[in-house]
Amino acid sequence: MEARFKGDRPLHGILPNNKMPVYVNSHYPEPLELLRLRRAAQRILRTLGLADLELGILLVDNREITDINGRWLKRPWPTNVISFGQTPDGPDFDSGILGDIVISVDTARKEAADADSSLEKRLDALLIHGIVHLMGFDHTLGEQQSELMKKKERELLDILYKERIMADLCINVDHVATIRQARGGNEPDPVTAAGLVELAGADGVVVHLREDRRHIQDRDVRLLRQTVQTRLTLEMAATDEMLAIAAEIKPDIVTLVPERRQELTTEGGLDVARLGSGLKEAVARLHDSGIPVSLFVDPEEDQILASERTGADCIEIHTGRYAEAPDMNTQDMEFEQIVKIARLARDSGLRVHAGHGLNYRNTARLAVLEEIEEFSIGHSVVSRAVLVGLRNAVREMLALVKRGYIA
Ligand code: PXP
Repeated sequence: MEARFKGDRPLHGILPNNKMPVYVNSHYPEPLELLRLRRAAQRILRTLGLADLELGILLVDNREITDINGRWLKRPWPTNVISFGQTPDGPDFDSGILGDIVISVDTARKEAADADSSLEKRLDALLIHGIVHLMGFDHTLGEQQSELMKKKERELLDILYKERIMADLCINVDHVATIRQARGGNEPDPVTAAGLVELAGADGVVVHLREDRRHIQDRDVRLLRQTVQTRLTLEMAATDEMLAIAAEIKPDIVTLVPERRQELTTEGGLDVARLGSGLKEAVARLHDSGIPVSLFVDPEEDQILASERTGADCIEIHTGRYAEAPDMNTQDMEFEQIVKIARLARDSGLRVHAGHGLNYRNTARLAVLEEIEEFSIGHSVVSRAVLVGLRNAVREMLALVKRGYIA
């Protein structure tokens, strides 16, 4: 970590493809599956949102790693993996370089044999260890750091190997209506958009009928009820007016959200703990109409416990704090909080959805969590659709939710 290893850019080896600057080079005397290793590295970097940074991977034997270890780190003995980061504190986005990872295949092979595992798996694990170092983690800084690092490595190994029950992706088409309302005419029509979203493979359509009708109109919800073939989610405030509309239209599920007229978008979760009995009554009224209910809540323990008491079927975790985290450490903390809360909710018998602020860089990491059954994503998909078309935008997001990366 202390120095940047001036590893040669490969003359022989796998050059980066045009999407991802991951170089893999081997000085090892035997043939190795370099392409496979590069794919693993690309997948991890995509999931971490580090895909634009350059990474060099060099595979060597014990003699060469001893030499590198001695020359650059003053430790003239063999080891399994060494990371050379651009900075000691983690990714440096300005430089465009993440760093280099040197792995001894001899040591990896021995460790694999000792653990009764394969060389490929051991190389993957060492690659991940190297990447986590480049992210700024350092197990030599004490027990707490070491535990954090191990946790991160397990998370990334899961991304590579875990068979996941895939979550559903429901697309919120509110902002198609926002564009329509900008001119007050009738295009683009969110009802047509919903059809395209379904054709692209989304598992459902979401709309938020706001009290001020700033984007979705009553007419949209009525038409969508007739046309949506997958699942229609109606987001709304728990007001008498909205409860009456839901009872008449009968969406497949209602997500209750807090609403303030001045806000640009739903800013925080419902304070279920405070609203208590009012929400319980709204949930009961929706249940009387045969409509399941989800509550949009911040990832806080007291909100989950209060949600359970309302009789709701489901919670939607507000992912805004995670999505808007200013740096990787904060994002990690918010991620851990979501993991904890998703487990608590599921263990309390609530189904778990998630949404708000999710985009093409931060969704894959959450998609690995098996507790989350459904993602509700709107703004980023509609924004991307302006540039690449709705079908492409939905399909790219589906790839992230179902496979953890865009192919
Ligand atoms: N879930 C809920 C409850 C929301 O209110 C919103 C925003 O309308 C979303 C998900 C989607 O958020 P975004 O548009 O940021 O993807």
